[in-house]
Amino acid sequence: MKIAIHHRKGSFSDRWIEYLEGRNIPYIILNAFDNNIIRQIKENNVSHFMWHFDQNYFEDMLHARTLFRAISQIGVKTFPNEDAYWHFDDKVAQKYLLEALGVPLVKSDVFYHKKEADEYIESTSFPKVFKLKGGAGSINVKLIKTKDQARKIVKQAFGRGFEAFDSWTVFTDTIERFWRQKTLHNFLRVLKWGFKGIFVDKQYKVFPKQRNYVYFQEFIPNLTYDIRLIVIGDKCYYLKRNTRDNDFRASGSGILEFVPGNFNIQAIKIAFKIADQLNMGCVAYDFVFNTDNEPLIVEISYGFQPYVYDQCTGFYDASLNWHESKVNLENEMIHNFLKQ
Ligand SMILES: Nc1ncnc2c1ncn2[C@@H]1O[C@H](COP(=O)(O)OP(=O)(O)O)[C@@H](O)[C@H]1O
Ligand SMILES: [Mg+2]
Repeated sequence: MKIAIHHRKGSFSDRWIEYLEGRNIPYIILNAFDNNIIRQIKENNVSHFMWHFDQNYFEDMLHARTLFRAISQIGVKTFPNEDAYWHFDDKVAQKYLLEALGVPLVKSDVFYHKKEADEYIESTSFPKVFKLKGGAGSINVKLIKTKDQARKIVKQAFGRGFEAFDSWTVFTDTIERFWRQKTLHNFLRVLKWGFKGIFVDKQYKVFPKQRNYVYFQEFIPNLTYDIRLIVIGDKCYYLKRNTRDNDFRASGSGILEFVPGNFNIQAIKIAFKIADQLNMGCVAYDFVFNTDNEPLIVEISYGFQPYVYDQCTGFYDASLNWHESKVNLENEMIHNFLKQ
């Protein structure tokens, strides 16, 4: 076995490297962006390649999946695997995947032509939730209250399109978060996003505009939180995210609870069952609960922010028993990946 890692400080790879060093397992660091990366992979007899590629980096999204797909053709195992990455940061792709698997998901409607979208708007009811395919922390998720608002959205979707990454929204959201929780961490975030939003923003400006499709989702009313469940191997981790003040959106609020409270445990059962079908190695689900308290999936992802989940207080096993323990998700990922 020869393990290669594409390393970026502050990503999952920090801990993957710690894991390998701690166990004296040989590995090499490779730069996936090198022009001769294939030659390097072959010369080093790489059998396992890990890269925490990130939706905030356009070059990652441009390159990682095709590189991984190419090297899987010569038997290299990749983390994430193809089942995990083909729909990464793509809520539209996930709609079809989850519908195909017959999974309980929030009803989602996607249109690729203005005519069909216009007809839909006249025949459906509002409010609905409008989303772009990509994005995290709720930045590309909006409540559309009326037909009129929806008509404007459709016009824009099939006209000038939407910024894939609206740094102004991120900046104002960060300020709101700072007023709520006046911590040094949040203050630094304000500086960082203010700077990125106003002065730099090169990292994000390169993303192409989102256009020529429109995605609406049924609005689940009266939610005060969603839950993020992460299944890796035979463990399921739990995080509750409360919504922002006067806002239906939980993701990105930073108002987190790690001790499982009262919630419909069926969600854990569904998470394990679908994890088998999805075959992603690591899958994070966002679940909401409808007015009958049924768990419904909003989105899935192999990747997420590192370090946050260190605060998790344990995990569920497949028999739905809770085990208190220290949590290091990156260790679980690499441990399970190297078993293959
Ligand atoms: N259909 C919906 N009905 C009600 N609330 C929703 C719905 N979809 C998303 N939300 C809320 O908005 C948040 C962000 O939505 P999500 O699709 O997970 O986008 P992101 O990728 O930005 O996390 C969720 O955390 C949830 O609180
Ligand atoms: Mg989400």
